[in-house]
This record gives sequence, structure tokens and C-alpha cells, in this order.
Amino acid sequence: MAEAYVSVQDLDFHYPDGTPALRGVNLEIGTNEFVALIGQNGSGKTTLGKCLNGLLKPSAGAVLVDGLDTRSRGIVKKMATRVGYVFQNPDHQLFNNTVFKEIAYGPRNLGMDEAETRARVYEAARVAGVSESIFDEHPFFLTKGLRQRVAIASILAMRPRVLIVDEPTTGQDFRQSLEVMNFLERLWREEGHSIVIVTHEMSLAARYSRRTVLLGHGQVLADGPTREVLSQTDTLARSDVLPTQVTRLAQRLTDLGVRPDVILVEELVEEMVRVHQRHRRAVG
Ligand SMILES: Nc1ncnc2c1ncn2[C@@H]1O[C@H](COP(=O)(O)OP(=O)(O)OP(=O)(O)O)[C@@H](O)[C@H]1O
Ligand SMILES: [Mg+2]
Repeated sequence: MAEAYVSVQDLDFHYPDGTPALRGVNLEIGTNEFVALIGQNGSGKTTLGKCLNGLLKPSAGAVLVDGLDTRSRGIVKKMATRVGYVFQNPDHQLFNNTVFKEIAYGPRNLGMDEAETRARVYEAARVAGVSESIFDEHPFFLTKGLRQRVAIASILAMRPRVLIVDEPTTGQDFRQSLEVMNFLERLWREEGHSIVIVTHEMSLAARYSRRTVLLGHGQVLADGPTREVLSQTDTLARSDVLPTQVTRLAQRLTDLGVRPDVILVEELVEEMVRVHQRHRRAVG
């Protein structure tokens, strides 16, 4: 793994009403990683995401970002260029009356002048796939997929090294989901960002992330290469996470010689072709 940019040390978090949400979490995220944070409902994914950029402060333990403790003073501004968090529901994030103002809000808040702000808005919008033609529209009237991209653009305009996107595809149809995910992959591959997706869709983790962190009841239950974590079907089942259908199918077919760590449909197809050819050679 790359050198740690975000370092979570023995993190506990409980909400003001006493609900314990995270317990003893240790985690490091480097630069230019693509991580999926998975786990059942209520396992603490969103809470951890918000702790990573200082929106929530540790109850015990520490979160260090680029060497800065998220509990220190004036951290919100410092975090803006380091770790961006895109809310599970973009409507919790969008509050300006035009798309332009929404994306410009961050750079302005960081004290950039109008010329630089404009440049940042155009760049972030282009990268996020938000057309200039909707700059004057009210975010409220856009489709959910577009609102999500405006939300991402408004975070990107601050150029955070690490981008956390909470449930990037909920409420979006297949095509929109694919667009958002391909876009995040491009940010990772071409622009050098670290991407953390928070999801309970195993198939998203399987297809896009290189590393997967499994949370259960506020604790890290597994953390490693996505293929390894997603093929630990017993561990997943214990944390009430359903492995992908292809992995379950592959593991039913291991007697035929299919690998048990298949996570994508096309891999299963390849395995079946291989098994079939071997069988043909054996009988022929
Ligand atoms: N504002 C809050 N006040 C009190 N408890 C909360 C609050 N937000 C979340 N919790 C609780 O903290 C725990 C972790 O919640 P969190 O939202 O981080 O889980 P999650 O993994 O993101 O779930 P989901 O998949 O449903 O989004 C849960 O028990 C939840 O009920
Ligand atoms: Mg959540």
C-alpha cells in the first residue's frame, strides 16, 4: 500500500445520544488508492466517512490527515483541500440557488479571487460531467444523477486529494450509475485522486475498487485486496453482507475446478470456458 495520507488510530465514535457507532477502528489510506467501504445498514460506514474529513470528531483515538489532527482548530478549511466528503443524499449538501454558485462556493470560501474561482468551477464541472449549459439552473430541478455530479463537482472544485463518495449510485438508474462510477475511476486513474466509495452493493466494490474494507457493528472485520475480501464468504455472511451472486455461484462450482475467488461475471464466464475445454480434452 502507498504511504499513509489518512491515518485512523484506535478510533471510537459515539453520537451525542450515546449510540456507539465506531469501535477501535484502525485504518490507513494512501494517495491514489481506490477503496470500497462496505457493510450492512448501520455498520458505521457513513460515520467513518465523516470522521475521515473531520465532519465528525473522534470520541477516542485519532484521525490524522496529511499529519493534521482532525480535532485541531480551523480544521474544516484545511480539510477542504485534503479530504472531500460527498453526502449519501446530495440534497443534504446542495444549498445554493444556481449550479454555478454551488460549485463556486468552496473556492470562494477558501478565499480565491473571482478569476481563479471561475477557473476552478469550469474545471470541476468539466471533470464531473456537468455541462456549462446548466450553470444558471437551480440544482433542485435537476435529476438525482445530475445533482450528485454537481455535489461531486462542488467538492472537486477544492481539489481534495481524497474523495469520499457515500453511496454513489443510490437512486440512479443503471446508465447513470455507470457514468458516476466511470467518472470516479477516471479521477483515480488519470487525476491521481484517492477514491473511497461507501456502498452496500458488493458488485460495485467488485468492479471498481482495488481494496475493500468491511465494517460490522462499528468495527473493521476485513481489510485487503477486493478479491480476497469479497471471496471470504463466511466472514461476509457473519456480518450479514450477501456476497455477489457470481462469487456464490463460483463457490458452488469449485468441484468442477472453478476458482473460488471469482468476483466478476466475465471471470466466471472465462472459468466456465476453461473448465469446458479441459473437460473436452479429457474425453477427447
Ligand atoms: N445522528 C445520529 N444520532 C444517533 N445515532 C446515529 C446517528 N447517525 C447514525 N447513527 C447510528 O450510528 C450507527 C452507524 O450509522 P451509520 O449511518 O454510520 O451506518 P451506515 O453503515 O452508513 O448505514 P447505512 O448503510 O444505512 O447508510 C447506527 O447504529 C446508526 O443508527
Ligand atoms: Mg450510510
